[in-house]
Amino acid sequence: MKHAKTKVEDITCSETGSAMLFRLLYKAKATYPPYTFHDLDILRAATEFNGANQITGFLVRSQHEYVQVLEGERSAVLDLVQRIARDQRLFDYRDIWSDKIEARMFSQWHMGYHIIGRQENGLPHRLNLLTVNSAPSLKQRAIHELAQLALERYSEPSLQQ
Ligand SMILES: Cc1cc2nc3c(=O)[nH]c(=O)nc-3n(C[C@H](O)[C@H](O)[C@H](O)COP(=O)(O)O)c2cc1C
Repeated sequence: MKHAKTKVEDITCSETGSAMLFRLLYKAKATYPPYTFHDLDILRAATEFNGANQITGFLVRSQHEYVQVLEGERSAVLDLVQRIARDQRLFDYRDIWSDKIEARMFSQWHMGYHIIGRQENGLPHRLNLLTVNSAPSLKQRAIHELAQLALERYSEPSLQQ
């Protein structure tokens, strides 16, 4: 039997009784290229800290850039991005979008990770064009596409339809 494709809407995860949920998207230039131990170190720290602090999200990197979505309690996310923005492994940090949210879109990943391949187009191009001045609909679309990518490529098999 053929199952319908899982959509982001099907996996949003709301929480009750918790502090205000918040999501933030930023972009920054990467100091080092992908496929070095630097990203492994970042992911190790992120998995440990985010796991202990109910922070979820996704980190995408291209040759020269990071784009990261972070979700969690507002002050926890804001404290973390202050640290990230000072990290020497990135520069030219820019907040693109942040707001309170009703439900997580990245609840499966304390920090998902994807390296954009040279032959990928579409989403990487749209991420590349994204700035703080982009239309809110474009920012929402980018977050949505990241969630769809995470779901399609990095989801637990048991959660796939
Ligand atoms: C692109 C990028 C993303 C990062 N994401 C996270 C993250 O999600 N969670 C985290 O704890 N640290 C993350 N870090 C690492 C932090 O910047 C920092 O090194 C770590 O939190 C340890 O902080 P400390 O050295 O001040 O103790 C990231 C670093 C970079 C460069």
